[in-house]
Amino acid sequence: MPELLDLHPAPADMRALVIEGLSRSPKQLPAWFLYDAEGSRLFELICQQPEYTLTATETALLEHQAPAIAKALGRGTLVEFGAGSARKVAPLLRALSDQAYVALDISAEHLAEACTRLQQQFPGADILGICCDYSQLQQLPPHPLLSGSAHLGFFPGSSLGNFEPAAAIALLAQFRRLLGPGGRLLIGIDQPKPVPRLEAAYNDRAGISAAFALNLLQRLNRDLQGTFDPAGFRYQARWVPEASHIEMALVSRRAQEVSVAGRRWSFATGEPLITETSAKYSPEAFLELAAAAGWRPQARWSDAADDLSLHLLIQAD
Ligand code: AVJ
Repeated sequence: MPELLDLHPAPADMRALVIEGLSRSPKQLPAWFLYDAEGSRLFELICQQPEYTLTATETALLEHQAPAIAKALGRGTLVEFGAGSARKVAPLLRALSDQAYVALDISAEHLAEACTRLQQQFPGADILGICCDYSQLQQLPPHPLLSGSAHLGFFPGSSLGNFEPAAAIALLAQFRRLLGPGGRLLIGIDQPKPVPRLEAAYNDRAGISAAFALNLLQRLNRDLQGTFDPAGFRYQARWVPEASHIEMALVSRRAQEVSVAGRRWSFATGEPLITETSAKYSPEAFLELAAAAGWRPQARWSDAADDLSLHLLIQAD
C-alpha cells in the first residue's frame, strides 16, 4: 500500500463563497464547486467526448515525448498538483530514473484509489499521496521523499486556465516556493484555436458539458438548501476574445427568485451565472505569466497540430 498523508484541509466556507459570488455582477462561483462526486464523474466523461480533444492530445504527447521529457527533467521527486485520477503520470514514471512520485489532491478517496492503482502498476516506485488544497499549501510536509530541495512539479490538463491571470501568477509563484530552489515545473497549456472548435469543445453534442454545469445547481440545492430549478437555466459556453477565455455559464430562462445560502437572489431573463472560465494561452503569452512568477523556459513540446504545449520551466534565480 502506498503511503497517504492527510493534512485535513479545512473545508472552505462554501456559504460565504456563495454569498460573495452571487453578490457579484455578473454572478460567478469558484470553479472547484463543480467537482462534487457527480461533477467529478461527469468531468471524466467530458474528457472522453470527441469534441474535447485536450485530454487525449496531452496524454498522447506525454506518451510520445516521455523519454525526451525525462531527460530534460533530470533527477528528483515528481510532485503532481491536483493529481485527480493520476492517469497522466504513468509514461513519465516509466521514463524517469528516480520513480519517486508525490500526488497532491483535495479528494482523499480519489487520491487513495489513484495511488493504490499506480503502486500496482509500478511496484518499485516510491509513492506518497498528500490530501491537501495545493493552492493554499504553505510548504510541503517533512518526508524522506521530499527531503531534497529541487523537486519536479507536474501540472497537466491546462488547469491553470481556470484561474484569472493575477491568480494564475500567484499560483505559479506558490509552486516555485513549494518546489524549492532549483525546482522545475512541467505544465500543460491549451492554446487558442479557431473559435468554432473551442466553443464545440465546451458544448459537446452529447450534452455532458451542460450536465456538468447544471449539476452545480443540484449541489447548491443539496449542500446549501438551495431552491434552484435546473429547468429554469440553459447552459452556454462562449469565447470571450478580450479575455482569451471560454466563459461557461448557466443563463436564466426567465425572471426568477431563488433561495440559497440563507438568502434570496433574483435572476433577470437572460442573466448568466458564470460557472467557470477556461483561459487559452499562446506559448508567448503563457511564458509572460510564468516570467512574472519567477520561472523561465527550458523546453517545450507540442503535438503535431500545435493544439497544446507542455512547457518545462526552471527557476529564474
Ligand atoms: C480542468 C479546467 C482544464 O477548462 O478545459 C472542461 C474544465 N470544464 N469542460 C477546461 C472543463 C468543462 C477543464 N479544466
